Amino acid sequence: MEFEDLIAKRYSVRAYSNRPIEDYKLNRILNAARLAPSAANKQPYKIIVIHTEGRKDDLKRIYSAEWFVQAPIVLAICGIMSEAWVRKDGKNHVDVDCAIAMDHIILAATNLGFGTCWICAFDPQEAKRILGIPMGVEPVAFTPLGYPSDTPVEKKRKSIDMIVCYEKWQ
Ligand SMILES: Cc1cc2nc3c(=O)[nH]c(=O)nc-3n(C[C@H](O)[C@H](O)[C@H](O)COP(=O)(O)O)c2cc1C
Repeated sequence: MEFEDLIAKRYSVRAYSNRPIEDYKLNRILNAARLAPSAANKQPYKIIVIHTEGRKDDLKRIYSAEWFVQAPIVLAICGIMSEAWVRKDGKNHVDVDCAIAMDHIILAATNLGFGTCWICAFDPQEAKRILGIPMGVEPVAFTPLGYPSDTPVEKKRKSIDMIVCYEKWQ
């Protein structure tokens, strides 16, 4: 898909079919994450591929929406704090790196006809417990991955002049 069509077409899908996901398509999506840039090329994350079949009750403890567990797969990106690049003032860039990798996942998935939805309003303690995430590693974002079974609504966005200024902050 042409890039501008792709970013216009992506939207937060909140209803999924249970149609299986082809392995080669999943691998292409995961490879898009692998190719994402990261600060100092550290790639300080791990992506957990979770098959929803048989795990729906557990997954709903992480994020309770019914549609969260409708798709065959949920992906979680987890940041490894100690592996991330840290700026001289102490700012750890793990969340930035995770967000870029997740956006690669989401756009690659859209390109292959899948629906996704960024999810950050999850319960981090339950996510760590259920997914066995160790100390020092933070779940940053989740998305379901599956074929959509809804219809997109028109995007609402600020105008360009509301989000851009030139030469200095104003
Ligand atoms: C960092 C981030 C976190 C988000 N967390 C959630 C979430 O927890 N639950 C949810 O339903 N949508 C979540 N969203 C989706 C946003 O609400 C959505 O992207 C926004 O309203 C724009 O709509 P669109 O994605 O359909 O273009 C999140 C999006 C981002 C980028």
